[in-house]
Order: sequence, then C-alpha cells, then structure tokens
Amino acid sequence: MKHAGWQSTSLTKLLGIQYPIVLGPFGGGFSSETQAAMVSNLGGLGSFGAQPFTAAEIVTRVETIRKKTDRPFNINLWVNNRDERLNSYDQADYNGLKAIFKPYFDKFGLPLPPMPTEFGPEFENQVQGILDCRPPVFSFVYGIPSTDILEKCKSLGIKTVGNATTVDEALALEAAGVDAVVATGFEAGGHRVSFLRPAEDSLTGTFSLVPQISDSVSIPVIAAGGIADARGIKAALTLGAEAVQIGTAFLATLESGAPPAHKQKLLSPEARYTTLTKIFSGRLARGIRSVLTEELKGKEHLLAPYPMQGRFIGHLRAEAIAKGNTDYITFWSGQSAALIRHMDTTTLFTELINETNNLYQINQ
Ligand SMILES: Cc1cc2nc3c(=O)[nH]c(=O)nc-3n(C[C@H](O)[C@H](O)[C@H](O)COP(=O)(O)O)c2cc1C
Repeated sequence: MKHAGWQSTSLTKLLGIQYPIVLGPFGGGFSSETQAAMVSNLGGLGSFGAQPFTAAEIVTRVETIRKKTDRPFNINLWVNNRDERLNSYDQADYNGLKAIFKPYFDKFGLPLPPMPTEFGPEFENQVQGILDCRPPVFSFVYGIPSTDILEKCKSLGIKTVGNATTVDEALALEAAGVDAVVATGFEAGGHRVSFLRPAEDSLTGTFSLVPQISDSVSIPVIAAGGIADARGIKAALTLGAEAVQIGTAFLATLESGAPPAHKQKLLSPEARYTTLTKIFSGRLARGIRSVLTEELKGKEHLLAPYPMQGRFIGHLRAEAIAKGNTDYITFWSGQSAALIRHMDTTTLFTELINETNNLYQINQ
C-alpha cells in the first residue's frame, strides 16, 4: 500500500519498531502484559506501567511479556514516587483530612482509617528489576534517573525515554543523555508528570508543546495527550513529533487492565467532562468529573501528599466498588475519550494505521 512515509521515523529506527505508535503505559495496575505484547506484535511499541510493582514483580511481568512477544516493548516507572511533604505531614494535618472526608466515609458506614504508613516500593528498589531483566525500552515520569542508572541502561542496551510537560524538562532530559522524550500535553489522561515546576504551572496543551519541544531538542519527540485517531496522529507528526503515545483510547479496550466499569465510563457521554484533580492521589491528574471532584474543589491544599492521599481514599474507593456506586471511584481519562470508537486493541491499532495511511494518500 502506498503511503507518504509517515510510518518510518527517527523513533521507529531508534527502537526497531514498524509504526510510530506507542501504547501509553498505565500505573495503578491498569496496564496488562497481554495488551503490551499485542501492540508490540502489531508493530507498535507496547508499554507496561510498572509503577505499583517491586523489582521481583517487574522481573516476573517482563518474563510474561517476553513469552508473548519477541518484538521491542517498554517498561515504565515513576522516578519520584514520594512527595517531600510526607516528611513533615503530621497527625494534626491528618485530622484535618479526616474531617473533610468524614461525611463520605459515613455515607458508606466506613470507619476513618488510621494515618497510612505503607507507601509501596521505592524507585531505587524497582529500577533494579529493570536492570535485571533488561527490557528493550525503559520509560519514566516525574524526573530523571541518576547518571549511574542511565549509564547502566546504556551499557545494557536499554533505550531510555523520559517525559516532559515543558520545554525546560525536555532540555533537561536531553542533557542527561536520555534517548527520546514524550511531550505530554495537558489533554492526557492520568497524572501530570511535571518535575521542574509544579504541575499547576506546567499546563501546556499538546498542540503548543509538541512543536516547541521538537524545535528545542534533537532527540526524537513522542507526542502524548488528546490523540485518539488518525487525525491526531497526522497532526502530531506535522507538529514535529516522531511518534505518538496513545493512552485513553487503549485503556477503553478489552485487553487493558482497567476494570469493566472504568471502560464503560470512558465510552459513556460522561467522558466528555474531565477535570484535573488531586483528590484521588495527592498529585494533579486528569479524570472524569465526579461527586468528589466537584464537591471538594478548592480543598486541594488540605489533602495529604502523594501517595498517602491515594492510600487514604483507597478505603472509600474499595467500598464504593463493592457497593457498585460509581460516584466515588476514580475514572482516569484524557480529554479525547469521546473520540473512542473501538473496543479491542487489534481493531483500534489496525484502524489507526489504515486511517493514517488514507489521510496521507488523500492529501498528497
Ligand atoms: C489510567 C492512566 C494511567 C497512566 N499511568 C501512567 C504511568 O504510570 N506512567 C506514564 O508514563 N504514563 C501514564 N499515563 C499516561 C499515558 O501513558 C499516556 O501518555 C496518556 O494517556 C496519553 O494521553 P491520552 O490519555 O490523551 O491518550 C497514564 C494514563 C492513564 C489514562
């Protein structure tokens, strides 16, 4: 089939993949090995978000992916997964948090939990799993790994991909020797992964961010945020991206690790209304508007730091899920959920390729 060469870019060459399409990694257990391997087998870059897992669990997950594909794939971690404010957060702060949430816990007949003290594996431990199992690609958010880690990746043949929400972050990633950068606009679903300035001060849209970052760095740029169909792919490539990273549209498909209620919500008219909120984790993230996001607006400064806020609200979420009450569950989503038309990974991926081919032919 004739096409305008959009399929071959500096990123596809760097990673040895067929198409410049990356499956967005999902934290919180929403990635699946099956979906990651499937996208890699289809010629894109499959990703697996390893944010909740220990080094040993990462090794096991990677073994599973390797059984399903022999193509390149990507494992993703959060470099900074503890807010500094955790060190000074005390019982008096926590009592304030409990007071805000008491009406909601009461509604479910739930006792307010004691202050959480267990916050999951730390990056320094998790990254050992990456070095042990050597995935072809290691992507990360919320910062830059140490020079030591980046050098080890290089010597092990692991390609590194950082995430930037501003030009300054992209420049810092390039200066550190990272191989490629995801330019993530504020349309994207999930967390705003800023690391040089607060996320609230780093809210640039994909249309503005991608050309600025591609003008500023010489490493390949992967556009993320708001891309859900061929029009978005062509636009991103026109703006200077060498690939796109798509999250929300893949999250809604059968093969992702999101619960069925989440997928239904992404396909419902409610997905037109997303918001940036800190209430579900303590860090700014985009999800579908809900009772909690609306009623607690303006109380952000009273929430617990990341990841304590998520551990705290997790009690409420578990009870809401058990009772089938979707008003209190987090439904992460990007702004383009309303564009979703496909419910399985293969159809979505194949259509993205076919329709992008068509767009390039039509406009030649
Ligand atoms: C539920 C959810 C979880 C996510 N978790 C991560 C993560 O752990 N690491 C990461 O690099 N990106 C994460 N992202 C961002 C996606 O990988 C991707 O960049 C983003 O979804 C692209 O924007 P879109 O949602 O508009 O397609 C997450 C996105 C969603 C929706």
